[in-house]
Amino acid sequence: MEEEINNLRNQAFFQINEAKNIDDLEKIRVNYLGRNGKISKYIKHLKTIPNEKRKQIGALINETKYVITSQLTAKRNLIKNKAREWMDLTVPGEKIETGSLHILTYAIEEISSLFEKIGFIRKRYREVEWDYYAFESLNFEKWHPARDDWETFFVDAKDHPKYGPMLLTPHTSSAQVREMQNAIKSGDKAVKMINISKTFRRQSDASHVPMFHQFEGLFVDKEVSLSNLKGTIDYFIQNFFEGKREARLRPYYFPFTEPSFEIDISCDICNKRGCKVCKDGWLELGGAGMVHPNVLKNGGFDPKEYRGFAFGWGVERVFMMKKNLGIDDIRTVYSTDLRYLKQF
Ligand code: DAH
Repeated sequence: MEEEINNLRNQAFFQINEAKNIDDLEKIRVNYLGRNGKISKYIKHLKTIPNEKRKQIGALINETKYVITSQLTAKRNLIKNKAREWMDLTVPGEKIETGSLHILTYAIEEISSLFEKIGFIRKRYREVEWDYYAFESLNFEKWHPARDDWETFFVDAKDHPKYGPMLLTPHTSSAQVREMQNAIKSGDKAVKMINISKTFRRQSDASHVPMFHQFEGLFVDKEVSLSNLKGTIDYFIQNFFEGKREARLRPYYFPFTEPSFEIDISCDICNKRGCKVCKDGWLELGGAGMVHPNVLKNGGFDPKEYRGFAFGWGVERVFMMKKNLGIDDIRTVYSTDLRYLKQF
């Protein structure tokens, strides 16, 4: 029986070799591998073969099926490629699938180009930092809860003799003092940066992820006022969000700004009347304020002469609040499901 099967295989190979077109190949396939094909008949006979032999014959049949199938595929490809050798230029082209940037990359591009239009220069600072730049130089009290390792990811490394523990930046404000120091070093008399980078916190729920992005504006010059801050915020809100939206400054506390504010944006669902989503007609966007004199000093700017404003908001957060996006769980923004991502 083994010999018969081997003969069948050789026959099939010969016929495949002789085949001229796809139809011939299909006939061969049916003849050998089809439900009533030559090979299938042997499978039906397996039952009648004594136990000790059955396994061996079974394996041979399987192998034969496999090699005939692969020969058929190889020949089919050969015939198809031959057919392509002449080209009909009138046939519509095959569309190549192109990739695209991630929705957050688009959001980051949009934010930075809006700020660049009003003179903020896009910067990126390190995401593994020393405590000094993330907290100490920003006037954070030693007991501040953000300095706790329940809030911040500390890196298992030796403390810096001057700058303290190493950590993953919990906010983009860590770049403020570095940027001011760099400006002084290069002889610049003012700072106008927009720093967009990754930030890390121990959190995960519908509106928080452990790694997210913030954008931080910092403007330091001799005559910078709160009304400049308000104007900048209004500019951003009117251009980034659709429709008529307003900004509200609500007094708040941050160690590195004085006075400090939370910025709210008017709710576009109820138009400030108050609804299920916003409750009182306003939605929280992020923090801002006038740079604290101690922070200016740490950056090398004399607070008697210079003033500044700063703001720091979440990229994912403002992106989710764009009109009609309907994203209600921030974690989905990081899903790798293309069906989801392609909607935007
Ligand atoms: N860094 C703050 C946070 O992550 C946000 C912030 C508040 C940034 C006030 C600022 C600011 O620049 O002035 O919660």
